[in-house]
Amino acid sequence: MPERLDDLPRGEEISVSLPPTICAAVSRMNQQVQLRDVEPDDLPLFFEHQRDPEALAMVMFNSRDRPAFDAHWAKILASETGLTKTIIVNGQTAGHIVSFIRDGEREIGYWLDRAFWGRGIATQALSAFLQMEKRRPLHAGVAKHNSASMRVLQKCGFRFVSGEQDPGDSHAILILAGT
Ligand SMILES: CC(C)(COP(=O)(O)OP(=O)(O)OC[C@H]1O[C@@H](n2cnc3c(N)ncnc32)[C@H](O)[C@@H]1OP(=O)(O)O)[C@@H](O)C(=O)NCCC(=O)NCCS
Repeated sequence: MPERLDDLPRGEEISVSLPPTICAAVSRMNQQVQLRDVEPDDLPLFFEHQRDPEALAMVMFNSRDRPAFDAHWAKILASETGLTKTIIVNGQTAGHIVSFIRDGEREIGYWLDRAFWGRGIATQALSAFLQMEKRRPLHAGVAKHNSASMRVLQKCGFRFVSGEQDPGDSHAILILAGT
């Protein structure tokens, strides 16, 4: 093995092992996160996302069966007050992000395929979504054990309005206020 790069014969390849933190940073730099309108072909993937047991434990929801899921998404896509986008990562459908009105307040939600977790994608997707969804305030209700989601919201400027201190609450509410 040559000791200096200059000593390598021309055209010869070397392989170098990089520490995992550097690999993760390089992979984040190479990932392109985009939002586009939801297409019918996305729905079977979204159906699978909301059946993932690990994700369900994070959100404390029950998954919907196919008829209930279809009815729910038909309502979302027909809504004139909501905004819903598919999250695309390097050309692959990774999840969705949505704003909707509940009890007179505008809420947001998002969900990623587990294969895409832990790479900063939700943070990038929410940042991009907030450029499209300009209405404020925006509310987010999060199960208090869902540390990843609370972190995503905080990184995007949301602040706790309830649940942070009170150990009795199962959920926290965070708000992104208007300017
Ligand atoms: C929550 C979810 C969207 C996060 O997506 P993601 O792309 O992995 O999130 P990001 O990588 O952008 O950011 C996660 C942040 O939380 C941190 N985090 C992850 N797990 C954590 C934990 N157990 N405790 C504390 N922080 C945690 C990460 O380190 C990262 O913060 P950092 O950038 O400061 O290091 C994804 O796990 C998901 O779709 N879960 C199922 C559905 C869901 O929970 N939706 C939200 C409902 S409110």
